[in-house]
Amino acid sequence: MKGEILLGVNIDHVATLREARRGQDPEPVLAALEAEQSGADAITVHLREDRRHINERDVELLARVLKTRMNLEMAATAAMLAIGERLRPADICFVPERREELTTEGGLDVVSSLSRIRDAVARIQENGTDVSLFIDSDLEQVEAASSCGARKIELHTGKYSGADNDVLRRNERDKIHAAARLGHELGLQVNAGHGLNYHNVQSIAGISEIVELNIGHSIICRAVFCGLSGAVREMKRLMVEARSAPGDGF
Ligand code: PXP
Repeated sequence: MKGEILLGVNIDHVATLREARRGQDPEPVLAALEAEQSGADAITVHLREDRRHINERDVELLARVLKTRMNLEMAATAAMLAIGERLRPADICFVPERREELTTEGGLDVVSSLSRIRDAVARIQENGTDVSLFIDSDLEQVEAASSCGARKIELHTGKYSGADNDVLRRNERDKIHAAARLGHELGLQVNAGHGLNYHNVQSIAGISEIVELNIGHSIICRAVFCGLSGAVREMKRLMVEARSAPGDGF
């Protein structure tokens, strides 16, 4: 039996829908509570510098009402670090951020900003929050993340999810596996996410060194048709099934 696999449900796109009318509905806090009741192990939100979906009011309310834990994604800037220090969520995931991008397009380049990231990690972890670094499946980046003192890494699965044939997909999956193995050997908790959906999740969930998957867009898309509770339950079921079955999902 391989270890347990956890699901962090990213609810950013509930807030995206609310911001389409700049009104009150749908309420991301309600979505978070429903996701928790349906098997989510954590709630993930990305507080972007441009506040295009999740805003400070959301994270403040979530910090008070969540029964699981909050994984707060943010850029490692002075303003965002101050928010992180004040809220003290269980996890903060540092991500690269560019205003013009539609979503987080690549991993953090920890190698070339080692001292800045090391300082930010120390500042946040001092308060009892675990820092995760969102990186590509590149062994040098995994080593750098470890040398920064971060307790966790999240491997960017965007290239795997975007691969348009099985050869490319398998190749990306192998890179994710190698990075996960190294991270695990270095004592890091290894998470993964981005672009995972009901068709491609099992091959990643089957990697035993990966502890948690953070999934948003595909769950919210399915929720439009069958409700959030069923969408979360089905994703968790697929993950647990893959974790207990032998093979790499291909
Ligand atoms: N993990 C991180 C660090 C992310 O930035 C995102 C997207 O906000 C996700 C996971 C979830 O990606 P998706 O919405 O494609 O499932």
